[in-house]
Parts: sequence; C-alpha cells; structure tokens
Amino acid sequence: MTQPDSLAQIGVVGLAVMGSNLARNFARNGHTVAVYNRSAGKTDALIAEHGSEGRFIPSYTIEDFVASLEKPRRAIIMVQAGAATDAVINQLADAMDPGDIIIDGGNALYTDTIRREKEISARGLHFVGAGISGGEEGALNGPSIMPGGPAESYKSLGPLLESIAAKVDGTPCVTHIGPDGAGHFVKMVHNGIEYADMQVIGEAYHLLRYAAGMEPAEIAEVFREWNAGDLDSYLIGITAEVLSQVDAETGKPLIDVIVDEAGQKGTGRWTVKAALDLGIPVTGIGEAVFARALSGATAQRAAARDNLPTGTLSTLAGRGVDREAFVEDVRRALFASKLVAYAQGFDEIRAGSDEHNWNVDPRDLATIWRGGCIIRAKFLNRIVEAYNENPDLESLLLDPYFKGELGTLVDSWRRVVVLATELGLPVPVFASSLSYYDSLRAERLPAALIQGQRDFFGAHTYRRLDREGSFHTLWSGDRTEVRTD
Ligand code: ATR
Repeated sequence: MTQPDSLAQIGVVGLAVMGSNLARNFARNGHTVAVYNRSAGKTDALIAEHGSEGRFIPSYTIEDFVASLEKPRRAIIMVQAGAATDAVINQLADAMDPGDIIIDGGNALYTDTIRREKEISARGLHFVGAGISGGEEGALNGPSIMPGGPAESYKSLGPLLESIAAKVDGTPCVTHIGPDGAGHFVKMVHNGIEYADMQVIGEAYHLLRYAAGMEPAEIAEVFREWNAGDLDSYLIGITAEVLSQVDAETGKPLIDVIVDEAGQKGTGRWTVKAALDLGIPVTGIGEAVFARALSGATAQRAAARDNLPTGTLSTLAGRGVDREAFVEDVRRALFASKLVAYAQGFDEIRAGSDEHNWNVDPRDLATIWRGGCIIRAKFLNRIVEAYNENPDLESLLLDPYFKGELGTLVDSWRRVVVLATELGLPVPVFASSLSYYDSLRAERLPAALIQGQRDFFGAHTYRRLDREGSFHTLWSGDRTEVRTD
C-alpha cells in the first residue's frame, strides 16, 4: 500500500531540549518529523524557531500525532524518565496499531525497559529502549545511539537512526545492541565508564595542581598535549577548555570559583548496583561514584578539614622528584586507570548480556562509542581491534596490545600512587585500579584466609588445592578435618 507523502517517517514526543534537538536532527537529514508535546508551548516554539530547517508536522493531541505517522509508525519518546514515560507509552500504545514501534530514548533503568517491552509486545507493538548519548549537542548534530528491543524493529528503525547518528570513518555510531533492555543497560554502563573516566582526569588534575604546584592554565596545556597522543578523547579536550577558562567577575581561573561538590543523576549509581548484583568488580566506577558522594558530604568534610591527623607528609621536592618526570608518570597512571575502568565496564556488559541472553557484541559498543558520545576516544579503536582478534577475551587488560601498554605504564602507576599517598592527596580510582590490577595478577589472594574464617565461625566449608570436595575443620572440637560433600 503506498502512503501519502504528507505522512511523517518518524515522530518525537516530548520537545524539551533533547527531544526538539533530536527532531531537528531528523528534519535536517531529510525526514518528515511528527512532533508532539504535552503542553503546546514547546511545540509552537520548535516550529517558530526551527520550522524552516526541514519538514515538521506538529500535532496537539496524541491521536493526531499518531495519525500523522506513516506505517509502521515510529515514535520516539523523550520525556522525563519514570512515571511520565509510562504514561506516554500507554497513550501511544492505545492510539497505535500492531506492528508500530514505540522507542524510549530517555535514560530509563534497563529493568523498567525489560518490563515495558514485555507489556508492549503483549499488545502486538514493538518497544525499543534506546540509550542516546552525546547530550544536547549530540542530539542535534549526531549522537551515539544504543537501541535495544526486537531485532525486527531495527530493520525499519535502523536506517533512520543511522542517518542522524554521529559518523566515524563513515560508520554510523548506532547498531542494534540486543533484545529488550540491552540498549539501556549498555547506555547505563557507558555512563558508569564516563564517571570513572572523568574521575581519573580529575585525579590527574589534582596531582598536577597540588603535588606539582602547577596553575590551571599550565595544566590545560598539559592536557592539550596529552590530547594529541594515546589519551586523545572528548573528555580530555573539554578538560583543557575548562581549565583555561578565566572567571570574568574575579579574574581567577574558573575552576577555583566552582564549588567542589559533584552532582549526579544516578546512572553511575545504577551501574554499580547492577554490578553488585552480577558480582562484577567495577571498582573504578564504584570509587568514582563514591568520590562524587564524598565531595557532597559537606558537613563531614567541614568537620574533618584541617582537623584529622595527617601523619608525616612529604612533597615532590622532598621526595626528590623531577616535575617533568612526574607529569609523565601522572599521564601513565591516568591511562592505566582508564584502561581498568573500561575493562571492568566491558566485564559488566558481558555479565549482563549472559544473564539476560542478550548476545551483546563488545565490538559493536566500542565501534559506536567512537563518536557522538561523551566517552568518545581514539583508544576505542584499539578496543575494537582487541575484540576482533579475540572475541572471548577474558579481560581487555589481557589483550596483547593493552598488555604491552601496561608494561610501559605500571611503574609510573605505582610511583604515582605511592607519591600521592605520601603527599596525602586522594587518588581513589588510581589507587583502587592498581589494587584491582595487582589482585587480578596475584599468585595467591587472601581469599583463602577468608574461607578459613568463614569455616571457623559458620562451618561454611572450603575447597582444597590438592583434592576434590568440600571440607570443614572441627574448629571447636579436635580440629581434625572432615569431608562434607
Ligand atoms: P526539561 O527539564 O529539560 O524541560 P523534563 O522536565 O525532563 O525536561 O521534561 C521533558 C519533557 O517531558 C517535557 O516535554 C515535558 O512536557 P511539558 O513540556 O508539557 O512539561 C514532558 N513530560 C513530563 N511529564 C510528562 C507527562 N506526564 N506526560 C507527558 N509529557 C510529560
């Protein structure tokens, strides 16, 4: 059946900044875009300010909006996460026909997406939970998009998303991630990695500032240099911009007038909660989330500031450390810690994928994160290569290329953690990532002792290196060992 030209290929519900920028991106790429917002003001503003950028069909009721879409209808919801999203999904589902596709482009919790997909597919419609990264700018000029949901719906939706996504070497930063909640899960972990990435950059800045005594403008130059090498990434680039900014009012570096309490919207916390449930140590991400929480613990920080004993502190000069060498050591510690954060994030994605039978291909993620999103970085090409060479890689750290890199990084990494400790400067992600690394490669772990303790107080039993089976020592008896299985 041919359809009239006047119908829209895609619709956007919710025209706050993200929604209207996404709608404009579709329109600028030649699609007719149906737009609807609960209150008419945002719809009118979009048409008045940007109506000339392409073909928009504004509607003022959900029914008219749905009627303005060609079949199978495709509608992206960009409203507040939670109850608002549920309300809009239901309104759309009531007005749509079997085979139509509802896409949630918000930052939904993946378990909500799994639930919604079940409910919507039971009504004969397709539901796609799509993670969209890149912020307002990305939504307008090319985001990285992580759609989940049924593979079948990607056939109809994929080309549309590919047309608006960021492109790297001609490859669009979007692909079908996997069924139901896979897209939102992966977006969640992306954000978790982003937390760790930002924190390690923060720790590097802190050391250059307070260990090496460099000024923000000088540090900005260091980050610019780093951005020309292995660390080339969006976040390093914007860090240099932030550090160069001078406050117009006071003439001070802007960084010095910003309150040092980091906000968060919750995706980092979700990443850690999910990792706890899956039993995956995402220590870098966890420390990054906790570091933000600690920064906001104002009362405790005020009580502790200049009040808790420091022990004997050192200085770079006191330790006889050359500043230039230290800067290079910090760069290496940052790179190594970042590698750990990515390795842990990919571990979580693999565990989530196994748990939910999503069959997520890590290469897809590294590919579509190369552009559009906040963690875009040159180094993601290396991750694609690592998984190309060995799709079953036990850990990214074990890839021959990254292993080689770690060989050149690890001495610096250790020196930086030791120095930071001696200077009394906090480096939670640098230090915990190094401990993770040393735990992973350890011949023996104190877990044997923990098993002994558990057996002592709770008869939880232990396994032996030299024999099969479960064993218990009669701790409160004659301390002989019995086999328990
Ligand atoms: P922002 O803070 O950027 O404006 P927001 O508060 O998260 O974003 O809201 C985003 C969108 O969700 C808005 O388009 C809002 O519609 P209104 O402009 O009418 O407020 C929409 N939204 C929020 N709750 C909604 C609901 N229950 N039903 C439909 N749309 C809703």
